[in-house]
Amino acid sequence: MSPWLAAALHPALLSFAATQHPLTNTNNPSVDSYSSTCSSLASQLSIPSATLNFSQPVTAGTNLTFPSRNPDCVTVSGELPSIVVPVDICRVSLFVSTSDRSGINMEAWLPKNWTGRFLSTGNGGLAGCIQYRDMIYGSGLGFATVGADNGHNGAAGEAFLNNSEVLEDFVYRSIHTNVQVGKEITKEFYGAPHSKSYYFGCSTGGRQGLKSVQDFPEDFDGVIAGAPGNDWNNLMSWFDYLFTVTGNSSSPTFIPIDKWLGIIHSDILSQCDLIDGVQDGIVEDPNLCEYNPDGLICQSNSDPSSCITAEQANTIKRVFSPFFINGEFTYPRVQPGGESPIFTAWILGGDVVSFSADWFRFVVHSNPSLDVHTLGEADWKLAQQLDPFNISTVKGNISAFKERGGKLLTYHGQADGLASPIISELYYDHVSNTMNLSNPDMDQFYRFFRISGMSHCSSGTGAWRIGQSFFGDVSELEGENLNPDRNVLMAMVRWVEEGVAPETILGTKFVNDSDELEVEFSRRHCKFPLRNTYDGQGDSTEPESWSCQ
Ligand SMILES: *[C@@H]1O[C@H](CO)[C@@H](O)[C@H](O)[C@H]1NC(C)=O
Ligand SMILES: *[C@@H]1O[C@H](CO)[C@@H](O)[C@H](O)[C@H]1NC(C)=O
Ligand SMILES: *[C@@H]1O[C@H](CO)[C@@H](O)[C@H](O)[C@H]1NC(C)=O
Ligand SMILES: *[C@@H]1O[C@H](CO)[C@@H](O)[C@H](O)[C@H]1NC(C)=O
Ligand SMILES: *[C@@H]1O[C@H](CO)[C@@H](O)[C@H](O)[C@H]1NC(C)=O
Ligand SMILES: *[C@@H]1O[C@H](CO)[C@@H](O)[C@H](O)[C@H]1NC(C)=O
Ligand SMILES: *[C@@H]1O[C@H](CO)[C@@H](O)[C@H](O)[C@H]1NC(C)=O
Ligand SMILES: *[C@@H]1O[C@H](CO)[C@@H](O)[C@H](O)[C@H]1NC(C)=O
Ligand SMILES: *[C@@H]1O[C@H](CO)[C@@H](O)[C@H](O)[C@H]1NC(C)=O
Repeated sequence: MSPWLAAALHPALLSFAATQHPLTNTNNPSVDSYSSTCSSLASQLSIPSATLNFSQPVTAGTNLTFPSRNPDCVTVSGELPSIVVPVDICRVSLFVSTSDRSGINMEAWLPKNWTGRFLSTGNGGLAGCIQYRDMIYGSGLGFATVGADNGHNGAAGEAFLNNSEVLEDFVYRSIHTNVQVGKEITKEFYGAPHSKSYYFGCSTGGRQGLKSVQDFPEDFDGVIAGAPGNDWNNLMSWFDYLFTVTGNSSSPTFIPIDKWLGIIHSDILSQCDLIDGVQDGIVEDPNLCEYNPDGLICQSNSDPSSCITAEQANTIKRVFSPFFINGEFTYPRVQPGGESPIFTAWILGGDVVSFSADWFRFVVHSNPSLDVHTLGEADWKLAQQLDPFNISTVKGNISAFKERGGKLLTYHGQADGLASPIISELYYDHVSNTMNLSNPDMDQFYRFFRISGMSHCSSGTGAWRIGQSFFGDVSELEGENLNPDRNVLMAMVRWVEEGVAPETILGTKFVNDSDELEVEFSRRHCKFPLRNTYDGQGDSTEPESWSCQ
């Protein structure tokens, strides 16, 4: 135990050691001790590398805002401006320095009704932002939940400039530090160590989860890594490459977004939606879709608003082809059918997307005034070679995680345009090959689910709700939504604690994706490499009409 935490062993904490069950009766005197234990925690803790900002009891229904957070966490990273805490928690905020010129701002949310479980959340993009949505979800489900700002405050990458310590936090050290400190706080607060330790995150959060599995196998018993941004350097280059493919909005190769979302998406569906036997706007397995845009090329009598030039058709073919540098395979293609508003606006919108631009400016070239519109193969190759702190996150030997009994669940939306879903197939195969494991051997500790019709981490036309985060309605924290057959977090808990591994993930599509949570349809998503296959006659909105083959 660290000395600073030994000091935290307030007598009031000891009562929690004896009673590990939930404290739910507000007349129970120990509730007051819970509150006072929480309030005094900050003054109890003394840690050389940390500054405790506060620890305070927060009652269910409290509306929190985050004045010290960079506003671009909301405007760019899509974090919620304010949140209503759904359950009683003790909220602890601290800054932990990781070097003389870096550190993380982290929070631990310790629910009164604790299950004994620990959960770490992750981050997104280049941020820089605690994901409070995930803090709500974890603490609302009774996990002692931690989140950190990944070593810098905000969505952008300036903080990396000439500061490899901040970069190191971003690559792996923020999560690892947060988990180590968070577990100690949890233990001291409740007076007993956690039972099992979990991680969930998506995008950069997915990469962070894989990094933990690869390099910190003791941190977690169960890791859920969604749509991972691993093969990171090539991913950043691929974004830049796609800009060179589309050109800017005045280039003849450029395609306006409304055409991507309109005639091109429709044409892709007309060629590929029925491959799976069901016309529902979902290309169940886009690996089977070889889209040819030539039919959209304008004829002499065409209305130019509903056709494209031959040059634009070539742009489409290149967007849906793998990325090569000097003939060397570098990053898989984006899948046809995933022409979401976010993908088309950010990646195909006529400029280099900010994550990639910042990565080249502040990390690869350490030059804030770099013109990111003129980069090419030499820059992409340089990014690959630099691979700072192994941010690529592609290590294939994860036997240490396997040997300690760890479980890994990855999922990836098949309509994801921000991290190609094929990367998750490639990583699965890479681990299988490196460790010489057959699919049944892999099943013992690593399962990958392909989620049809899901965009990047959330949204899309498919049955994309799989309990991967909190989307705004407290009823997500109860009832059927927590059924481990349809909730990846609870599926992981069941796998770790009861040894029952998920065979499928039952996804839900809600009407209008709205908070009303009225079910439109459900579909079971299969474990890779199985393919979800329609039986040819049943009601396609019923999961029973499909099977994994
Ligand atoms: C905690 O303290 C750090 C530095 O001491 C500060 O940068 C940060 O904004 C504080 N966090 C909160 C949530 O107040
Ligand atoms: C929470 O507070 C913010 C800022 O004052 C406000 O905009 C928001 O509407 C509040 N939320 C609720 C549910 O009251
Ligand atoms: C406490 O959590 C358990 C599940 O861990 C749940 O069944 C129970 O309803 C919760 N109690 C309250 C008051 O939230
Ligand atoms: C960053 O370091 C580079 C050399 O590596 C130097 O040219 C540049 O001036 C530095 N920039 C800042 C803002 O310190
Ligand atoms: C597009 O790029 C060309 C060539 O670099 C440049 O002249 C033009 O101003 C750019 N247009 C826009 C809209 O950025
Ligand atoms: C990156 O990974 C390689 C291979 O596992 C290892 O030799 C090297 O030390 C790592 N580098 C860093 C900076 O962690
Ligand atoms: C994988 O790593 C373990 C140590 O964690 C080592 O013992 C084993 O030899 C490695 N296996 C391969 C195939 O490299
Ligand atoms: C891989 O595993 C198979 C089956 O367990 C075994 O026959 C083969 O020798 C192994 N290959 C290597 C390179 O270890
Ligand atoms: C879905 O949206 C339609 C059109 O806006 C609306 O009429 C309907 O009530 C909504 N349904 C739900 C469950 O939100």
